[in-house]
Amino acid sequence: MPTPNYETGLGTLSLDDRIAEHLEKTFQDPWEIRKLSHDFRRNGYVKLRDVVSGEVKDLVSDEVNRLLDLHARRIDINLKETSNSPRKMSTVSQQSIAQDSSLIPELYDSTALKGFLGQLANEPVVNCPWDEEKYVIIRQEKQGDTHGWHWGDFSFTLIWIMEAPSSEYGGMLQCVPHTNWVKDDPRVHDHLIKQQISTYAHETGDIYFLRSDTTLHRTVPLSEDRTRIILNTCWGSESDAKKEQSHETMEAMFS
Ligand SMILES: [Fe+2]
Repeated sequence: MPTPNYETGLGTLSLDDRIAEHLEKTFQDPWEIRKLSHDFRRNGYVKLRDVVSGEVKDLVSDEVNRLLDLHARRIDINLKETSNSPRKMSTVSQQSIAQDSSLIPELYDSTALKGFLGQLANEPVVNCPWDEEKYVIIRQEKQGDTHGWHWGDFSFTLIWIMEAPSSEYGGMLQCVPHTNWVKDDPRVHDHLIKQQISTYAHETGDIYFLRSDTTLHRTVPLSEDRTRIILNTCWGSESDAKKEQSHETMEAMFS
């Protein structure tokens, strides 16, 4: 079956072919890829603003805003599995996205994108074994909105910043890499006391790759009503596929 070509200046290539072409052109120097890989493995985080073209980002941004209009749902909860850290935000679930979008599932399945991320991870990046964590949308909009300290159930997350406020108003990412999530004894504050916290600011159009299962992370609460919108795409490692996983925090946020 022919793949849709999204008639917005992307030409006749499929989205995967378009991403492959862009990656080949943008990352020609193997040493640059190695440096990104080292940063990712050392910090649990690396910014990849140019992983797709501006045209693809624009398509994704329009799609995310359309899906928010259709499906956004407010939550304001605290989760015991992460030491009662808060989740204050609007969300769109994977199921809603899968129902109403072909672009985002196609982006998620891109062999070129997964192959590139695998080079940075230094191991295969494979589809998330649990469908409901594959892609979700989060919008923070009100004073105090935050995605409080947490870990992910799966290894590899790419965050697409659709809109970000100035860091003056919060919304930055904070990370404590190389930590493990013990769900019945998470001790988030003990990790924060013992380890250094890194803080990363982002602007609209940024993309970052996060080692989500072993990086304790949060967004700094918004100090005023401002908008921060992200698409979260999550893949697993080969060992994730073999693990018994429970999904308490995701179920509380997105079902
Ligand atoms: Fe996260």
